[in-house]
Amino acid sequence: MRSIIITGGAGFIGSHVVRLFVNKYPEYRIINVDKLTYAGNLANLKDIEDKPNYRFVKADICDFDAIYALMQEENVDGVIHLAAESHVDRSIKDPFTFARTNVMGTLSMLQAAKLYWESLPEKYEGKRFYHISTDEVYGALRLDHPEELFTETTKYQPHSPYSASKASSDHFVRAFHDTYGMPTIVTNCSNNYGPYQFPEKLIPLFINNIRHRKPLPVYGKGENVRDWLFVEDHARAIDLIFHKGKVAETYNIGGFNEWKNIDIIKVVIKTVDRLLGRKEGEDLNLITFVTDRAGHDLRYAIDSRKLKTELGWEPSLQFEEGIERTVRWYLDHQEWMDNITSGEYEKYYESMYANR
Ligand code: NAD
Ligand code: TYD
Repeated sequence: MRSIIITGGAGFIGSHVVRLFVNKYPEYRIINVDKLTYAGNLANLKDIEDKPNYRFVKADICDFDAIYALMQEENVDGVIHLAAESHVDRSIKDPFTFARTNVMGTLSMLQAAKLYWESLPEKYEGKRFYHISTDEVYGALRLDHPEELFTETTKYQPHSPYSASKASSDHFVRAFHDTYGMPTIVTNCSNNYGPYQFPEKLIPLFINNIRHRKPLPVYGKGENVRDWLFVEDHARAIDLIFHKGKVAETYNIGGFNEWKNIDIIKVVIKTVDRLLGRKEGEDLNLITFVTDRAGHDLRYAIDSRKLKTELGWEPSLQFEEGIERTVRWYLDHQEWMDNITSGEYEKYYESMYANR
């Protein structure tokens, strides 16, 4: 019997992790702690919300008292921490919210776990605090040096307020291991794509815009490179590392799947067109080059050989299949998309792009 808090479980990646754990481990108790910010959506978990081993708790990770009380109430022995502010463009407009949630929120989770676990007779025995981070903490790689990849020992060099806040939270997690002996693990993953991603991120935003024949705002020249991983493969890696990963270790997670933005955008356009029965490529004219993102990192690329060698993880899906499944999912779930893109979010999106 394990009792695990998963934070941010109503978000994109968190919902896949919650679903995987609830279905795969009926003997575990899975407690999803989420504040339900604009990015949190309980509709992402409709299919598992009535399972007996699942509980949702609406709480802010910064609320130390609430988190500490929940850990006591549920005898929590594991934390998988995903809750965060996650969008770079928002962090450029509002860095304070990112410092609050990503840094102070992580610290609040760590401190609650520390005080609760240290109060038990067995202390840290059998416990685990697993922090989900991003490859963006490593900064940016050069476009003309394809042999360069981020490894677990690459120096932290964050550029955006988002990546700076995630880097800071990673340091706090490691400090809790080094100072108090807390059994922590950190993983740094590349860009995820797949169902349930909030449509402010490149792939779902563009699928929705193509469907409605709205312009596709490509930052700069579209030459930036990202390393894309299907979200269910990330969730599988999290499951493996939570159970088999070594305490105090860092693992990089990525699919060896680099794409220039403009190239992936063309694949998305052609896939949407084909699946909607339009002429393949007829929506390429929606591509609209706009002012570049401030401090836009040129290239991310993950070396995930450590995870493969030590724990045997590999991505299960070829990119072509992953993108096909993803586009199909968004086209089949228009209601999910409409619920998000109406109201407050619509106003925000319009204000973001009004001056581009
Ligand atoms: P997301 O924005 O889709 O979801 C974040 C979730 O956290 C939401 O449900 C939100 O309501 C919740 N949340 C935010 N602030 C909170 C608070 N103060 N208290 C409680 N809950 C709060 O994010 P995502 O893309 O699913 O990312 C999840 C994690 O994975 C983040 O830590 C992110 O840094 C990391 N990550 C994301 C990617 C990616 O490509 N999306 C890649 C690598 C790592
Ligand atoms: P995004 O999905 O925001 O992820 P991240 O910034 O964490 O990598 O963006 C992916 C890439 O796509 C990034 O290089 C920025 C670019 N991009 C655009 O060109 N236009 C857009 O409207 C968005 C949201 C992103």
